[in-house]
Amino acid sequence: MTDTQEAILYVIASLQNQNQSITLDALRQPFTLMGYGEVDIAEQLGGLAEMGLVYLSVDDQFRLTELGQTEANRIYKIKAREEFSSFIERASASPAYLDFCRELYGYRLPLFNMMDQEQLDFVFNSIPLSGSDIVLDLGCGPASILNHLVNKYGCQGIGIDQIDWPEAAMEGSVFYIQGDIDSFLDYQITSTVCLAVDSLYFTTDLPALISKLRSIPQNRLYLFYSQYIFDPGNKDQSLLHADHTRLAAALHQAGLSYQTIDYSTNERMLYENGLKILPKYRDLFEAEGNMRLYEKNLQEYSMGKDLYDRGMASRFLYVVLMNDSKIFRVL
Ligand SMILES: C[S@@+](CC[C@H](N)C(=O)[O-])C[C@H]1O[C@@H](n2cnc3c(N)ncnc32)[C@H](O)[C@@H]1O
Repeated sequence: MTDTQEAILYVIASLQNQNQSITLDALRQPFTLMGYGEVDIAEQLGGLAEMGLVYLSVDDQFRLTELGQTEANRIYKIKAREEFSSFIERASASPAYLDFCRELYGYRLPLFNMMDQEQLDFVFNSIPLSGSDIVLDLGCGPASILNHLVNKYGCQGIGIDQIDWPEAAMEGSVFYIQGDIDSFLDYQITSTVCLAVDSLYFTTDLPALISKLRSIPQNRLYLFYSQYIFDPGNKDQSLLHADHTRLAAALHQAGLSYQTIDYSTNERMLYENGLKILPKYRDLFEAEGNMRLYEKNLQEYSMGKDLYDRGMASRFLYVVLMNDSKIFRVL
């Protein structure tokens, strides 16, 4: 299989993970973001069909065969690791990126998410936490958020991410596991609070992951999740409603009730502000030899803004309490 065909399977798997229709138009935008803007997607899909991995269904959507699904899941993990490892490592060591983060997010922390200061302030100040809590951060990246919580509350922190993050880069009290979010129960850990900030898109089985989280007694879940619709021809926007996103469906399936906070306006503003703020740091990125990082961010914010401009995106925090504990800290 060619690198381009692998990239197509990767995009199909990620669209499927978000309950998206998989049409030529839906594939185009994320595929361009990965740097394959010039490729003839239809021709590549033809090649994948000949290999028995993809077929065109009666509703004009591309679907994976059983073999295609297995291949797509395998490639999905590998590509996500490649994509994030170099990006996160480079960005975390870039003063230009950190300065940019301070202006965009309100905190000089290496962040790779759609959290503006209001959302970060919620996590840092409003989740009821004490020294006896164990916070599990699924897909923690460089664990910037987790470190902050551990330092503030003296709680224990466990971060799981696939990236080969040098443990020395973690601050003392965070226990880092280089692993797969889909296998987190295998690591024999427990938690009282589980945080997932823009990482649930990377599981290959969201309902299974949620049901594993449900099996931890007394666990409280704080899940930040954006839902996008990439197919410009899709007229059914119900997926964007808080109770109809892919995550809401998985929570319903697990029999979990939740409360939501709508952060769609925050995410829209984050993209708009990102596009205004980033160019101010262009020369610093260039001086560091980090123009690829600069361009990648610029492209992501433009696409995010475009999705919101077309009414094709929404963002929510889902709070799930397994017992009757408080959602908000009483200040
Ligand atoms: C959008 S970033 C969010 C990072 C971090 N939560 C933050 O807010 O800055 C998604 C993270 O998920 C991680 N990830 C992707 N697939 C994963 C997997 N299968 N297992 C564990 N981590 C994964 C990536 O390496 C990346 O750090």
